[in-house]
Amino acid sequence: MTNIRFAILGTAKIARTVAPKIHSAAGAELLGIASRNEESAQQFAQEFNIPRTYSSYAAALDDPDVDAVYLPLPPSLHREWTEKAAAAGKHVLCEKPLARNADEADHMIAVCQEHDVVLLDGVMWYHTARAVAMKNVVDSGQLGDLRQLTSVFTFRWDTMPMKNLRMHRDMGGGSLLDLGWYCVGVTLWLLDEMPQQVYARANWCNDVDVRLNGFLWFGDEDSAQRTVATIESGFDTVRRRWLEVGGAKGSLVCDDFTRPWKSDRPHFWTNDGDGNSTEHLIPHKAQEECMIEAFCDLICSGQTNHPWLRLSRNTQFVCDALDRSARSGNVVDLENVHPYKEQE
Ligand SMILES: NC(=O)c1ccc[n+]([C@@H]2O[C@H](COP(=O)([O-])OP(=O)(O)OC[C@H]3O[C@@H](n4cnc5c(N)ncnc54)[C@H](OP(=O)(O)O)[C@@H]3O)[C@@H](O)[C@H]2O)c1
Repeated sequence: MTNIRFAILGTAKIARTVAPKIHSAAGAELLGIASRNEESAQQFAQEFNIPRTYSSYAAALDDPDVDAVYLPLPPSLHREWTEKAAAAGKHVLCEKPLARNADEADHMIAVCQEHDVVLLDGVMWYHTARAVAMKNVVDSGQLGDLRQLTSVFTFRWDTMPMKNLRMHRDMGGGSLLDLGWYCVGVTLWLLDEMPQQVYARANWCNDVDVRLNGFLWFGDEDSAQRTVATIESGFDTVRRRWLEVGGAKGSLVCDDFTRPWKSDRPHFWTNDGDGNSTEHLIPHKAQEECMIEAFCDLICSGQTNHPWLRLSRNTQFVCDALDRSARSGNVVDLENVHPYKEQE
């Protein structure tokens, strides 16, 4: 099997972490780097040992040797460059959030399906052995009926950096899309269900949520045993990235679900109600590599309509509803938002 040859569009900060892992991932090859600025592309290429440079994103798409693109662009550009890449026949690894809203995400997915290319969002941790082990514990039923799932992802800026894309609504900014994306995603993934209703409150700066707290309710509104999830995202609190799944019989806790604090000790715990705790240590390679290899596997097996894409779309849809709630102050019934329909 020949390697999937990648070009990166944009010399983004996150591309500096991902580029070496495209080199080291099995089945992948980093062929080129594109930038709006030729000099930036050349510097990046030199630093990360990349053979080809392009002085525009379009030039990378014109290269017939490129099989796939990695898009670490501001969310406002995800739709445009995903659709252009798909039309050029390139598979797309698009950074999270997939788009600014579900409408954009739906268009991106439709265009990728039309051109028969794989689209995957840039959440890395899903593709690790630890994530699989956590999902297996939840699915095994050993925690009992699931009652409460709580997830948190925050970091702190002392002063809000007004030039950063995260501080601009039109660029797809805000803590919900940047960090809450992971919390909503893990909730939907572990529960394997869409919420019926959501509610959120936020602190605002420059019309973006710099802190958001959200509720998601699952199942029948009249049931006394509804599963509830809460999420927290913020740019104003020390770096935290933890998750707790509370069941009737046991709980699962992970203090660093989006990225292990210690790369050689990816772990989580299961607990009973008597103080007995089991640590599960699940070593895995760098999560960037896990994601790139998963993306290459999807390409090689021709899976354009894969479960991760449905999870992205559902995540985007729930983020839309949480944003709507935070802006209106109302509980939002999901069936009343957006023309959402389950895609086959
Ligand atoms: N998966 C993860 O763990 C992870 C981590 C961090 C960020 N991200 C995601 O990755 C994406 C990029 O985030 P980042 O913080 O790395 O971004 P960044 O450093 O600001 O870089 C964005 C890049 O986009 C290009 N660009 C094109 N038009 C632009 C415009 N109008 N304004 C700014 N940049 C523009 C620039 O590349 P050129 O100048 O070279 O063209 C720039 O370097 C976001 O979607 C973010 O959520 C994911």
